[in-house]
Amino acid sequence: MMRRIRTIYSVLFWVATVHLAIAQNANNKAVVIRTANTSLVYKVDNDQVIRQCYYGKAINENDVAGIQLTSLDAYPAYGKAYVNEPAFRAVHADGNLTTELAYVSAETQVQDKNITLTRIRLRDRHYNLSVTLCFKAYQQQDIIEQWTEVVHEEKKDITLFNFTSSQLALRASSYWLTSFYGNWASEMNMKEEQLTEGIKTIDSKLGVRTNQFAHACFLLGVEGPAEENSGTVIGGTLAWPGSWSMEFEVDPLKNLHILAGINPYASHYVLKPKEIFKTPALLYTISHEGKGGITRKFHTWSRTYGIHKGDQPRMTLLNNWEATYFDFDEKVLKQIIGDAAGMGFDLFLLDDGWFGNKYPRNDDRAGLGDWDVNKKKLPNGLDSLLREADRKKIKFGIWVEPEMINPKSELYEKHPDWAITAPNRAIDVSRNQLILDLSNPQVQDYVYNVMDNLLTRNPGIAYLKWDCNRYVTNPGSSYLPADRQSHLWIKYTEGLFAVLKRMRQKYTDVRIMLCSGGGGRIDYGTLPYFDEYWISDNTDALDRIFIQWGTTHFFPAMGLASHVSVVPNHITQRSTPLKFRFDVAMSAKLGMDLQPKDMSPDEKEFSRKAIQEYKAIRHIVQFGDLYRLLSPYEHKRAAMMYVLPDRQEALVFSYLLKKEIYGNDQVLYLHGLEPTKTYTLKEVNKSPQYSRISSLEGQKFTGAFLMTYGVRFQMYNEFESVVFRAVAE
Ligand code: DGJ
Repeated sequence: MMRRIRTIYSVLFWVATVHLAIAQNANNKAVVIRTANTSLVYKVDNDQVIRQCYYGKAINENDVAGIQLTSLDAYPAYGKAYVNEPAFRAVHADGNLTTELAYVSAETQVQDKNITLTRIRLRDRHYNLSVTLCFKAYQQQDIIEQWTEVVHEEKKDITLFNFTSSQLALRASSYWLTSFYGNWASEMNMKEEQLTEGIKTIDSKLGVRTNQFAHACFLLGVEGPAEENSGTVIGGTLAWPGSWSMEFEVDPLKNLHILAGINPYASHYVLKPKEIFKTPALLYTISHEGKGGITRKFHTWSRTYGIHKGDQPRMTLLNNWEATYFDFDEKVLKQIIGDAAGMGFDLFLLDDGWFGNKYPRNDDRAGLGDWDVNKKKLPNGLDSLLREADRKKIKFGIWVEPEMINPKSELYEKHPDWAITAPNRAIDVSRNQLILDLSNPQVQDYVYNVMDNLLTRNPGIAYLKWDCNRYVTNPGSSYLPADRQSHLWIKYTEGLFAVLKRMRQKYTDVRIMLCSGGGGRIDYGTLPYFDEYWISDNTDALDRIFIQWGTTHFFPAMGLASHVSVVPNHITQRSTPLKFRFDVAMSAKLGMDLQPKDMSPDEKEFSRKAIQEYKAIRHIVQFGDLYRLLSPYEHKRAAMMYVLPDRQEALVFSYLLKKEIYGNDQVLYLHGLEPTKTYTLKEVNKSPQYSRISSLEGQKFTGAFLMTYGVRFQMYNEFESVVFRAVAE
């Protein structure tokens, strides 16, 4: 413990002691990026190279002079003596392979009470090429948003081969990387490993919905594995839904270089004179309260800046996907709408299968692209469903997958050239579909118009589920010229952003769920346009505990849609109690994905009450600070809690993942409470059969007691769960 505390302050001072050979003098210019509790210090050496010298707890202005120069290049370019992985590599108009960047200037503007923008301009020593390192510093949340802008005025085009958003460098005795990986129905698993000399790369080359196998998020434990509540941890995530890459290189001097940005793989970019190439941003922060500190900083930031309308509560909903799949008609949907309203849901969400006439969408083989209402299933159009929802006083949402096209569609018959595919190759479908080429402005207009027509003709639509069920293979664009094909990955993403931006300008109030056959797409580049995310198609409550555990390290529960579904679960075949399924879904944004008419009257009644209870506690889940108490990766009991910022209310979730015949008595040491306040404990979503905490119900304890002595109760059965609230007087 002592060792960790000592290192908290000293991680990056180490840099200096190791590299005293660097030429320096007292007048070396310093550029400091500050947030309320952290400082990131750069210094310009005597040769005008800018070096990263410190990132850690806030440094007093007068003490900055004491920070020593390091050899850690702020943005290393391929060329001169740099032999590690470069942040930047370009081939100049005359064929020169090297770049030498020298410091030109730095300026900081105060954008508002919370945000400063610092721009550090570098320029090649010979060529008319400038690279600007940009930093938005969010004061209260301690988040830094860093990106890079490249522009040149060489005589002809230059080609960019490496163009990271940032390079963070540090020196410590050991580095521990946690990365997030998975696959369909098993997203956001976490794995920690010690970094050794060489490069560890986590990346995605998938182009679109790029998070299927890995997420552009990392946690870095400094001087030891990352702990939950103590120790220095750096956390970062890339705001970009396209192909991405993060490289962690430990060099022979044991410095760590973290390079993050667009994946340069098959993606070299030809840059015209005066065109500005702007990379996406890496968002990062440093915590001295372990991983928990990283999470809370990101969540608070996200609610203000990261996701759409992050200051507003989210609705509960019933989705008909697992209830009917493609097999429904107006009568069935009206019955579900009625039942959903009866149970107290805020919204009914109509999923896939409602469109296509020449090629009806009766399964996943046809119809994508033809967004007209299927006349056979819904002869009275959406209007009749919207009116029914209105009558039942429930809002209405609808599924779309506007970036995709089935070859079996009228759209494909008209515009086969709009699909991404390589020339002279057979088309390579996945889930029987291809991806529309959003690098093409005509396709962008088409996708925008699809959404615009749907929302204008049906003003009652309050919610969209925006799906995206495949990644790119066989890449090729019939719009981009032959010598710009490698731009596809970047231009697609820019095209997507252009459509989303246009949509949001007109439709600010429609709630939109970001869905990609589960968690194939979740990032802070896309989320400013979206209110919610469907992180996995796997609704099994046990698996969801792990998936949601990983996801909420960076993305807040307020947008994390989590649905109660039937047992045995359609994907895992596992059966868990209804209370357990609710208690897992209630720890995020509660929804349901089943046919209500198949529930027993008791189950319906339980659900009705649970939904009512969720509505009473959702402000704590959606706006509270998350504290993780017991990790499902380490214990048979998993537990976490949310605490409102004023510490008046907290909500604790505890799940038993495996049967314990003699009882599991792991203590829940609560966190984040006000030590001097008195809290009353109240169970939430009680089982009709028994309570594990009846002796604590209604009891009063100080915050100090709940945090030091903890809350003690036994749990026995596999998939048993206890949720309770602590309310201050
Ligand atoms: C994948 C989504 O994740 C599911 O929830 C559902 O919407 C299907 N697509 C529909 O095709």
